[in-house]
Amino acid sequence: MNRLTGLFFGIFLLFGVSWLGLVAYPYLTFAGLRQSKDEATGALAPQGMPGTAAQGARVYAANGCFYCHSQYIREEKEGNDIGRQWGTRRTVARDYMYDQNVFLGTSRLGADLTNVGVRQTDPQWFYRILYSPRSLSSEVAMPAYKWLFQTREIQGQPSVDALKLEGAYVPPSGYEVVPTAEGKALVAYLLSLKKNYPLPEAPEATE
Ligand code: HEC
Repeated sequence: MNRLTGLFFGIFLLFGVSWLGLVAYPYLTFAGLRQSKDEATGALAPQGMPGTAAQGARVYAANGCFYCHSQYIREEKEGNDIGRQWGTRRTVARDYMYDQNVFLGTSRLGADLTNVGVRQTDPQWFYRILYSPRSLSSEVAMPAYKWLFQTREIQGQPSVDALKLEGAYVPPSGYEVVPTAEGKALVAYLLSLKKNYPLPEAPEATE
């Protein structure tokens, strides 16, 4: 009988401690996160993601971009992320409060994408790197995501989204390469990746 009480107590303790660590503690730490208000401008940050960008986040997940790209900036003393100009401050929990899925990533075979929407603002640049990564440099070890595009006959005027390709990538005359709805959503997501607003808990790094 005594042993049984001990066993039950042990089981209770095991689940109790796990619950505290995996449910209660994260809840108390993160559930209370609110937007930050800039004292000078009154601007709220972070802003939620626009609708197409949120769809694009699912395309990002489905295509496994996070296997090679991270989305976090470390403090200066923990790594050279700021020195590589991936961001001007470290990222903190509040930066991710509106993300349905948080793509921190573990490997950095490619660049960190936390602020890729600050570095690049032209959708064409993103379309090109996704369609033909090697068109930017022959050494880029990123796979081509051709299924996010379609080659189609030009109907009347060429599409405004048609890719401006060079060399071997140029489609036959009379044809154009355009992003699919998924491709467009993914690029809307990439363009929305900007953590360039101030947060009091993560001051800008000083040189
Ligand atoms: C097998 C690894 C791998 C996968 C998977 C991958 N990439 Fe890349 N990516 C790279 C490498 C390598 C580079 C070039 C090196 C660099 O980042 O400058 C790169 C570059 C990029 C860049 C340019 C970054 C910059 O600032 O110059 C973007 C944007 C990008 N990838 C987006 C994506 C997206 C979106 C996906 C998913 C659809 C994806 N990548 C999947 C490896 C990968």
